[in-house]
Amino acid sequence: MTNTPAPESKIIELRQVQQRFHARGAAGGYLTAVDDATFDLTSEPPQVISLVGQSGSGKSTIARNILGLQKPTAGTITYNGQDIYRLSRAASDDYRRNVQPVFQDPYAIFNPFYRVDRVLQTAVKKFRLAKTPQDGLELIKESLEAVRLDPEQVLGRYPHQLSGGQRQRIMLARIHMLRPAFVIADEPVSMLDAQVRKAFLDILLDFQETYRMTTLFITHDLSTVHYLGGDVMVIHRGVIVERGKVSEVMTRPKHSYTAQLLASVPIPDPNRRWKDRINLAEVEAEEEEGAATVAPDPEQAGRLS
Ligand SMILES: Nc1ncnc2c1ncn2[C@@H]1O[C@H](COP(=O)(O)OP(=O)(O)OP(=O)(O)O)[C@@H](O)[C@H]1O
Ligand SMILES: [Mg+2]
Repeated sequence: MTNTPAPESKIIELRQVQQRFHARGAAGGYLTAVDDATFDLTSEPPQVISLVGQSGSGKSTIARNILGLQKPTAGTITYNGQDIYRLSRAASDDYRRNVQPVFQDPYAIFNPFYRVDRVLQTAVKKFRLAKTPQDGLELIKESLEAVRLDPEQVLGRYPHQLSGGQRQRIMLARIHMLRPAFVIADEPVSMLDAQVRKAFLDILLDFQETYRMTTLFITHDLSTVHYLGGDVMVIHRGVIVERGKVSEVMTRPKHSYTAQLLASVPIPDPNRRWKDRINLAEVEAEEEEGAATVAPDPEQAGRLS
């Protein structure tokens, strides 16, 4: 089943990935956050794949599974044919370098007591990107400029002294330095306004072309999916119900849930907007009925959103 990749191409394969969590009140005492997720991420040609679905549908769980933070209950995730949860030291280093996260709130991974230069020097050291701190600084400046940040302005600042858009661009600068084959972006633009959001997406699309990066882009926002183009996977209650080209899925959805999701997007037609918006509320109400109380997992607390 595993494809053997060409030497320069890298591949992440998910096969029947399932993630269960203990949940009080749920049938059998657990809930299935992800069920039977099977898809590939390939580095050649680089692609953007959006994973779209509403809150609680299992998107972040899949991201954590791929990032090696949450071992699935069943199924496999392989990197170039090897199980990512049983990689040798060398293969694991390769994976950590080549599969980079971008999260909604970079505060979660910024040390608040470190200035931006130190945050980025940490990545330089960890991944041995430069021989000397001076070379490291040159690299950092180059990467900040690549994401249109002024090094003089941001290097000496603490994370809280930056705007949300600037903080997210620091994460992009980090990606620029590391040049991973894969970026796993979990709602990276949800907290940004439309203009800053567009700038972020443009940089990501530019990286895809210039540095041949493949991105799994998690969002609940269909306009972002539309802007990114490429492929989209629709996830509903832990199950990927539809996958295809964005243009096709958005014009001819095959699954009723995709159609509902599309119908909930406010469109610039005053006669349709409110009627259509109500649909998502109905979907959400249905979801609530089937929802279970989730027992907190202390291991995961405070890790990632
Ligand atoms: N560590 C955990 N322990 C128990 N349940 C969890 C855990 N992590 C996630 N869940 C549950 O799994 C389901 C999927 O959660 P997940 O965070 O993947 O959703 P999501 O699609 O990312 O939602 P959002 O759009 O709100 O970020 C939810 O019901 C959630 O409560
Ligand atoms: Mg999430």
